[in-house]
Amino acid sequence: MEAVTDVVFRHVVKQAGAPDIFFTEFANATGWVHAGDKAIAGRLIKTDDEQPLIAQIWGGEPGDMEAFAKHCAELGFNGIDINMGCPAKSAIKSGGAALIRRPDIAIAAIDAAKKSGLPVSVKTRLGYTYVDEWREWLTTILQQDIVNLTIHLRTKKEMSKVAAHYELIDEIVKLRDEIAPQTLLTINGDIRDREHGLEIARKHPGVNGIMIGRGVFSDPFCFRRAIELSSVEEAVTGASSPVSRTPRAGEATRKEYSETEYSSTIHHKSELIALLHYHLDLFDHYQPTLGRPFETLKRFFKIYIRDFDGAKELREKLMHTTTTDEVRLAIANIRDL
Ligand SMILES: Cc1cc2nc3c(=O)[nH]c(=O)nc-3n(C[C@H](O)[C@H](O)[C@H](O)COP(=O)(O)O)c2cc1C
Repeated sequence: MEAVTDVVFRHVVKQAGAPDIFFTEFANATGWVHAGDKAIAGRLIKTDDEQPLIAQIWGGEPGDMEAFAKHCAELGFNGIDINMGCPAKSAIKSGGAALIRRPDIAIAAIDAAKKSGLPVSVKTRLGYTYVDEWREWLTTILQQDIVNLTIHLRTKKEMSKVAAHYELIDEIVKLRDEIAPQTLLTINGDIRDREHGLEIARKHPGVNGIMIGRGVFSDPFCFRRAIELSSVEEAVTGASSPVSRTPRAGEATRKEYSETEYSSTIHHKSELIALLHYHLDLFDHYQPTLGRPFETLKRFFKIYIRDFDGAKELREKLMHTTTTDEVRLAIANIRDL
């Protein structure tokens, strides 16, 4: 997510409970081709412990997509995801959801990205204006032999203002099975956490993956894995490593939780505050390379400072801070509660 899932926040989420696949924020191919790294403002900064990590790129010039995808390959990314769903005005001038209306460019962009030698996937929406555009649009994309199609179950016009169209999942699975059984299908839209995603996957056999976006704002632990995996989960996530639970941030002793306990866990204030401290430390650590202003941190405070008496007042106070040390000071006396 743009201005959210940079190298700092990906590490925060990893600490809280890692997803099976990481994606960067989207980065514009044409901007990079013309202005180099300063145009992408640290969006591709990464470390080797984020695995697998997919670079999400966008644009409307296939030549630029090829050059940028090759650059991503050189940087060591594990795959390229092409954004064909962003509704932002700045994106739809040339790319993002505009490609839904420019299938020739969408096809050329996929071909261009494949020249990087990396696996190529696409993230898109059901259509531009009408939900029933989905069949024709997804048919076009599925015919391109991509490794994964992530479908945000809304149109561009719907933004995120209506409920995701889960009622279409089975039909989309059927289309995928007919056209490109080798292409994985990832579902996105309104998924709260891993358990919720797995429930959807169980209900709709054939779904291979779930993507969580805004869920991370209400629960940074949303990707946390239950200790006892069901066979469905193994199939869905492709998890091959021994099952282990990521320790909670700030957790002193390890405790084992059942799947049910997990889904109903209410995160303790101290756990969230410890995660915020980790976030602040990471921000300071990456600041010299990432160069993002302190102000950009403020959108994250609501993730951690919530659901306790005085939370609102504390958030307001944090909005007036100007350094990470000021934030540390402001939260110091609630750290151990
Ligand atoms: C702040 C913000 C930034 C986003 N940036 C991106 C992005 O860079 N690339 C992308 O594919 N989707 C982006 N999205 C869309 C989400 O990935 C996701 O498709 C959408 O929010 C619906 O899923 P959700 O209901 O799980 O949030 C962004 C969403 C938000 C709220």
